[in-house]
Amino acid sequence: MLTSDDFPPNFIFGAATSSYQIEGQSFGGAGDTHWDQFALKTGNVVNNENGAIACDHYHRFEDDLDLLKGLDAYRFSTNWARVLPEGRAAVNQEGLDFYDKLVDAILERGLKPYLTLYHWELPAALADKGGWTNPEIANWFGDYTDVVLDRIGDRVESVATLNEPWCVAWLSHFLGQHAPGLRDIRAAARTMHHVLLAHAEAMDRMRSRGQKNLGIVLNFEHAQSLDAAPENLAASATFDAIFNRWFIEALSRGEYPKEALNGLAPHLPDGWEKDMERIQQPIDWLGVNYYTRQILSHDSDGGWPNYKSTPGDLSKTSMGWEVYPKGLGKLLYRLKNDYIGDLPIYVTENGMARNDVCESSVVSDPERWNFIQQHLIEVRSAIGKGVNIQGYFYWSLLDNFEWAFGYEKRFGLIHVDFATQKRTPKQSYYDFVTAFGKKH
Ligand code: FCB
Repeated sequence: MLTSDDFPPNFIFGAATSSYQIEGQSFGGAGDTHWDQFALKTGNVVNNENGAIACDHYHRFEDDLDLLKGLDAYRFSTNWARVLPEGRAAVNQEGLDFYDKLVDAILERGLKPYLTLYHWELPAALADKGGWTNPEIANWFGDYTDVVLDRIGDRVESVATLNEPWCVAWLSHFLGQHAPGLRDIRAAARTMHHVLLAHAEAMDRMRSRGQKNLGIVLNFEHAQSLDAAPENLAASATFDAIFNRWFIEALSRGEYPKEALNGLAPHLPDGWEKDMERIQQPIDWLGVNYYTRQILSHDSDGGWPNYKSTPGDLSKTSMGWEVYPKGLGKLLYRLKNDYIGDLPIYVTENGMARNDVCESSVVSDPERWNFIQQHLIEVRSAIGKGVNIQGYFYWSLLDNFEWAFGYEKRFGLIHVDFATQKRTPKQSYYDFVTAFGKKH
């Protein structure tokens, strides 16, 4: 079994959450987000659920943070619509007060606060103005960044601009599975670019304030062709370009991959090339979210991007995602070699959903602990090959609102009974804190 002794002395162990998934959007004067609208339409979210109450973390954050004691860090996000209910201008002081208290409570427990500024809760009022398809969003996001950091920038350890731009853009505007639920290639292409412009604007604002330790969190999946047939290899390459390469190539080389431009270039905003230099400005670290692999083949039914995914034969989590730890090792190595060299990497999310059942206050989830161990074996061996990995955050601290899957999919180290809000640490929680906590 791996423990923190198997990692470099300053390696950070923590857990991650996001605001809309846990806080309870109906509390504390927060505005509506595009997720609140999206969730109203039957069929978008399992059981028509939404984040109005979620884990009631807004009222229970002190107790929730107690559960992290002994670990090194906590990754959380601020909620744009809680801070600026209309997205711009009028500040909800109660929302800022909440994050002020939250950061102090994180520090009081000996944890480092790792802030993410955007984990998908776009204010509905900005969605009315076109949301991510409107180029003005870069300035709106910059203004929001300043408001948040004016209040808590003095105490956070690091700041990530955005969580998973692929989800913000592709999953939400092309596949329609997340808010705002569009299936529109032009909206998707514009968002693929505008998220990076918003990142660049927030970076500029933060650099000019002297804010330190700035990054972005990208998600990656291991892409693999079904077989060696040329059309399947091409399908896998197209998936890889859109999912894995688009953002990291823009950030590290100022380029978009040709296999993705093949379909997206006609829909990008005019003059996008001029923005690439700004998008490429240096970051201080890269956040990597990794969960699974995809097996890809050519799809002749639809139009571009002409790929489909086939389920593989590895064991699967309750999301139906294959457990493929080796993909994380390969990814970390690829990032170093092809893109970022020695730039520090944090694994900002990795975890599994399981049909956890709480019986007599016990949740036995050995598969989760095994999942964590298997992925950390890959992290350790990548460190051994010279990849500069500085930390690992489990997703997630708590069972929570898992977006389109509602409350059905449980990723937490802590079980949450959503009827009573009772928290029950799972067996994997005890394993995790014992192996990687300070008292170890
Ligand atoms: C990631 C998201 C996170 C959660 C996990 C399971 O894509 O960042 O909010 O949904 O997947």
